[in-house]
Amino acid sequence: MEKKHVLVFIIVLITGYTFTEWWQPLIKIEVPKVPITFSGKELGQETQELVTKLQENVFPQLKTASEEFLFSLVNIDNALRLSIPIALFFILPLASYQGSRLGLHFLEKKLLNPQLILPNSSYGRLDRIRRWWSQYKTPFVILNESVNKKLDAIKEKVKVIKTAINAGKSLTYDNLLLHGPSGTGKSLIAQIIADYSNMDFLPVSAPSLLQSGILMSIKYLDQLFAMAQASSYGAVIFIDQADLLFTHRSLLKNDPEHNKVVSHLESLLSKNSNKYMIIASTTAIQRIDNAILPTFNDHLEIPLPDILSRIKLIAFYTQAILFNQKENTKLFIDQARTLLSKEYMIDIAQQIEGLSPADIKNMIMTIRKKSLTTHNEVPTQKIVSEAIAQAVEKRQTLHHYQSLRPDPA
Ligand SMILES: Nc1ncnc2c1ncn2[C@@H]1O[C@H](COP(=O)(O)OP(=O)(O)OP(=O)(O)O)[C@@H](O)[C@H]1O
Ligand SMILES: [Mg+2]
Repeated sequence: MEKKHVLVFIIVLITGYTFTEWWQPLIKIEVPKVPITFSGKELGQETQELVTKLQENVFPQLKTASEEFLFSLVNIDNALRLSIPIALFFILPLASYQGSRLGLHFLEKKLLNPQLILPNSSYGRLDRIRRWWSQYKTPFVILNESVNKKLDAIKEKVKVIKTAINAGKSLTYDNLLLHGPSGTGKSLIAQIIADYSNMDFLPVSAPSLLQSGILMSIKYLDQLFAMAQASSYGAVIFIDQADLLFTHRSLLKNDPEHNKVVSHLESLLSKNSNKYMIIASTTAIQRIDNAILPTFNDHLEIPLPDILSRIKLIAFYTQAILFNQKENTKLFIDQARTLLSKEYMIDIAQQIEGLSPADIKNMIMTIRKKSLTTHNEVPTQKIVSEAIAQAVEKRQTLHHYQSLRPDPA
């Protein structure tokens, strides 16, 4: 049984209990008092007399009493008694869901321009209820074996630190820098770390922090850190595309204003906190300022997936996108299963070296999309081959343009 159903069940029980408690005093039937006497006559005669008496006195009175009872139910008082539990039954779950959303909005509005915090944030108890209600699940990530081990160690460390801080020990969180190519799961990893320790998650992206000018971005940063400081669960501040914010000062010669942000950040980052940890993510670690780099106690590189990870990624996204019974017809799934055998998946994985997990996901989504635009609406060998070629070509073009760009460091 899902949690949502347990909640509805409890509400039904409470409502049912209240309902019967309130209704009990109303259900009163006046029993007609008719004197029925037996006069020692023969049984047949007595029975006949009894029937006559019942017909004449008791039945009409019972009829009137039941009519009165029924009509007595239809009045304002009873309407209220009936409608309140029914209304509560529908309103309570809705109110708890909407209330938590409102609560979150209120906090965000109060503490930070809501557009700055990315939509997958989580802050405070109300938001936890909202996540629970919407059956939120921590994202799933497929990583190379060695990266997976390092991530597990970091997750464990954060949890241990949080427990120790909660127990009153004087400790601080370590900041973490995630770096590696685009679409390898850095944003997902930040969320996974926050979820694993049940910490608030405050994700922002550097471009949106910077969009309103340097001075505003300093103000936003202060507000973001204040919000994290006020967290009762401990918070993960996640800064995506951090190289745009922490840019190496040698690259900012003509931009003294941006220099101010880097210095301000340096002061914010250099002191570790017992309330929050900072996770920053970048695809260009070489652009990050030298003074900022050491403020991150841990560096975790997320490389492109190796052959084993690529096989797992193909299998995972094929299952989720092509074999998905909710989204596809039986004919589509049967055809996809016949086509994408285990051997063929291994073969594809060999062909797509250099693709990121996000590229692989997109490639499989392309297979589905293309299939649905054909006459039979099922995947074919040709569609799969085309989607692979298209994904590989796209990645090669991207590599080519990236190699033309001068290295800023
Ligand atoms: N390692 C992974 N395992 C499974 N799915 C992944 C993985 N990496 C990325 N994805 C898929 O690609 C999407 C985009 O990934 P994500 O934004 O986390 O990558 P990123 O490294 O943060 O990229 P960027 O540097 O461009 O911000 C994810 O939402 C997920 O669907
Ligand atoms: Mg990202």
